Amino acid sequence: MHNFTSFAFVAGLILIAVIFFRDNLFEKVDADWIKQGGGFIKSRHAPAGRFNPGEKLVYWLSLAAGVTISASGFLLLFRFSEPISRICSWRRS
Ligand code: HEM
Repeated sequence: MHNFTSFAFVAGLILIAVIFFRDNLFEKVDADWIKQGGGFIKSRHAPAGRFNPGEKLVYWLSLAAGVTISASGFLLLFRFSEPISRICSWRRS
């Protein structure tokens, strides 16, 4: 089950990456948002785009974690069928 559903995981990851990519790029308004402490310090609304920098950070960290999980998963899924010493000449000795 895990191995087959992993493809849906990767497809979802790609969809999330593509759909929300533009709105998660850092802009000047984000620098102002950070300078104002997100409005938490003075308890005053700090303007942001569709996503504030905290949300953008969550997007990028989630993507990084998803790509890492997927890459390690694919390495397990399509593992070498030959011993590494037969593929890499420098490991033959
Ligand atoms: C949040 C997502 C995921 C979690 C929490 C997760 C978790 C796990 C865990 C706990 C194991 C067992 C490890 C062990 O026995 O030492 C495992 C094995 C495995 N995972 Fe994932 N995994 C995730 C996503 C993926 C994805 C995206 C892929 C493929 C692209 C993948 C492919 C595999 C494979 C091939 C194995 C080895 C299965 C086997 O031993 O036959 N996983 N995973």
